Order: sequence, then structure tokens, then C-alpha cells
Amino acid sequence: MPAKTNLLGPSGQLYADPKPTPDENAFQVNNTSDAYYNSPYYLKHKNEVQAIPPSRTGALPYLNLANFVPQDLMAAITTSEKITFHAVGDTGAAKVDKHQTAPTAIADEAAVADAMDADVQTSGVDGPAFFFHLGDVVYNFGEAQYYYDQFYEPFREYDRPIFAILGNHDGMVFGSSSSAPQVPTLAAFLSNFCAAAPDPSPDAMSITRTVMTQPGVYFTLDAPYVSIIGLYSNVLDTGGGIISSRGGHFPLVDDQLSFLTGELQRLKADRQAGKRAIIIAVHHPPLSIDAKTGGSGGLMKDIDSCCEKAQLWPDAVLSGHAHLYQRFTRTVNGRQVPYIVSGSGGFAATAPPEAVPPAGTVIGDYKLEVDPIVKFGYLTLTTDARSLTITFKAALRGKPVTQEDSVTLDLTQGKILASGANRAAQKGTNKRPTKKTATPAKGTKKKV
Ligand SMILES: [Fe+2]
Repeated sequence: MPAKTNLLGPSGQLYADPKPTPDENAFQVNNTSDAYYNSPYYLKHKNEVQAIPPSRTGALPYLNLANFVPQDLMAAITTSEKITFHAVGDTGAAKVDKHQTAPTAIADEAAVADAMDADVQTSGVDGPAFFFHLGDVVYNFGEAQYYYDQFYEPFREYDRPIFAILGNHDGMVFGSSSSAPQVPTLAAFLSNFCAAAPDPSPDAMSITRTVMTQPGVYFTLDAPYVSIIGLYSNVLDTGGGIISSRGGHFPLVDDQLSFLTGELQRLKADRQAGKRAIIIAVHHPPLSIDAKTGGSGGLMKDIDSCCEKAQLWPDAVLSGHAHLYQRFTRTVNGRQVPYIVSGSGGFAATAPPEAVPPAGTVIGDYKLEVDPIVKFGYLTLTTDARSLTITFKAALRGKPVTQEDSVTLDLTQGKILASGANRAAQKGTNKRPTKKTATPAKGTKKKV
């Protein structure tokens, strides 16, 4: 059998391991970071946002996929006149307690990662071109020492670039003093995802994948037929996502609002010419029916304010944070926009702790389209800029991958053409009782 040739990026980026090791069944570094929830710094500051580190000096706020994959892959995308990619959040294997062993935690994340690997390997240049991670890469405090077990090892066979927005766990900090964190916020994320050059990672041990060169913690990825605007919704475990000062309530500058408005304006002509779809990705969900990770009205308002200024709305909004799959349709400015939550990447599959409204419930300008799916799995998105299809597939250890839901949009009209849950596949996944009316919870009570 000829040796497998793996992808080589135009700046020397490396992705999959040429000779992947067998799946691990024990952590290289046992995760003891749960104890940091009781550290003086975390206890004092857990309800505060963290400062946003500046982007790299001189770096543009957007990336071009052509600078990350070889020309033949870009040519195949152009020839086929469509692009496919993966997205999911909350992938880190770390949760070990009386309900779950380390091998189980590792296997749950590996099942998702391996299914994504298989999509790439079986489809070749016509398959997914990249993975856009929706945040919470490493639990519980984004520490460098856990990047191997939770990121590099699980995705060591994924032969495509992995871009990432941050989740709260990637930026959370702790410390034995209440006056300063032991490690500055985002230190490991910046060195692994926002490096100046695609060098080997200090945290990857023997894994081949080079670090990512995103300009900062918020950025846009421009690819053929689609742009994904990635936001950083900060570190709050409870209380939802924060991307601005909220009129001075948080000690943040509002550069992220300027960034979002500017990116929508930059991309508007291409969007209106039918050349690219526009997706917003933000870790905390603007809409979530799950009471533990309830939708964030302030985040929604901030995003809306930028769309109003730019007079352009996204074609879809993707989030993680809630450890399940949810799909809403929001009708805004006469267009139907899917808001999808997929924090189902392997850390936990968590049923809503309280009753949720049934699929079909309309609240304000949005509708819950499917009963929440409490399974590990991931999204696959395909677009030619005229239509967009998003599917959710479940990937459970020891079981075949199953498609659970999908939606297809006509982007010229802003209308859903087709959608549907696989009811048989969903049977028995929504364990909680339902009630006829409900209001999305605004806060959370437990860490997620
Ligand atoms: Fe999260």
C-alpha cells in the first residue's frame, strides 16, 4: 500500500499525523482543574468578564482559506462550485467523576472526532475543507497542559485546518491569590490558535499538527462561497455571552461591535451578489431553550445592532456552550435565519434540567424547530452561496453515525426550503417532560 500523503499548507502547515497512534485510553495528564473552581481568584472574580487581548500587530481581522490548504483543494472547491465544512463546540474530554471514567470521557470525544476524520478521509477533496470549532476546546480553565489530551490527540487524524472561536472555559482563570490569576486569561489559546507562524505547538507533544495563525480572539474566515465571522463571548459560566461593554456595564471596549459591523459591511457586496453566505459563530448561544445555558438577550441585541448598522443579516448563527443540539428559526427583516446550538462535541451530553417547550413552539420572532437532541455529534455545512444546508449527525461510541436533523435554506430568498428531524433517530433522546408554554431561561445555575 502506498504511503498516505497528508495535507501540507502553503506556509508549511501540517495537519494529520502521518502515522497516527492508536486511541489513548488514559490521559497523559490527569485533569485536576476542577479544584480551581474553589480557588480564591475564581471565587472572587467568577462573575466578571476578562479583558480581551489585542489582535496581533499588523494582522488583518480576516483569514483566507487559500492560505491554509493547498491549491488543488481550493481548485476542487471551485470546480464543484460548493464548499463543505464541519462545526461543533465543547469537544474537550475531561469530565471524570462518579458517573464517568477517563476511558469513557476519552471515547466520547474520540467518537465525534473519528466520525469527522472519516468524513474527510472518505470524501477527499470533495469533503469537508476545514473544521470551525465553536469554543470550549479545553476544560476546565483552558490550560496548556491539557491541550494534548483534549485537542491534539483526539484530532490527530483530522487532515484539515481547525479554526476556533473561544468558549468560556478557554478563557477562564484561577489562582491562589484573589488579586491576580495564576495564568493570564487565554495564554494557551493564544499560543495554540493565534500564533504569528504555523510552528509546532509546545503543547502537542509528538502530534504533528502545527499551531493556527488566527489574528486574534475574534476574526473572520473567508472561504469560497462562505465567510464565518467568529466572535468572542467572554468567560462567564452563568449569565450568557458578553461581546461589548453593554453601555458601560462591563469594563470592555466595544471594538468587537466595530469589528462585526465592519465585517458585515466588508462582505455585503459579495453577499448581495450571491457570491458568499455569511455565518456568525459565537460560543454562548443568543437563543437556547436549555435552562442551564439560557439564551443571551444582551448578546442578541448587540449582534442585531451591528446588523442594523450594516443593513445586513447573517444566513445562520452557530453556537456551542449548551451540551446538546437545538435548532431555531428566527424571522428577522423578512428572512428566515437558523440559530443552531451544537455544544455536543464530546465533553458532555446534558439534558435540559427542566421542562422545555415542544418543537414548534413560537416565542417572539423565533420558533423551536426540533426537540433538543441530547447526543454527542457534530454539524456539517454545505453551501454554494445560493443555498445552505446544515446537518447534525450523532456520533456515539460503539454505534454507527446517524443523521438526526437537517435544514436547507434558499439564500436568495431567505427561506427554508426543506428541513426535518429524523424522528426515529431522535426517539427517546428527550428524557424530560414537556410543557406547552415556556420562556427561555436567562441565567444558569451550574457550571457547564
Ligand atoms: Fe461553554
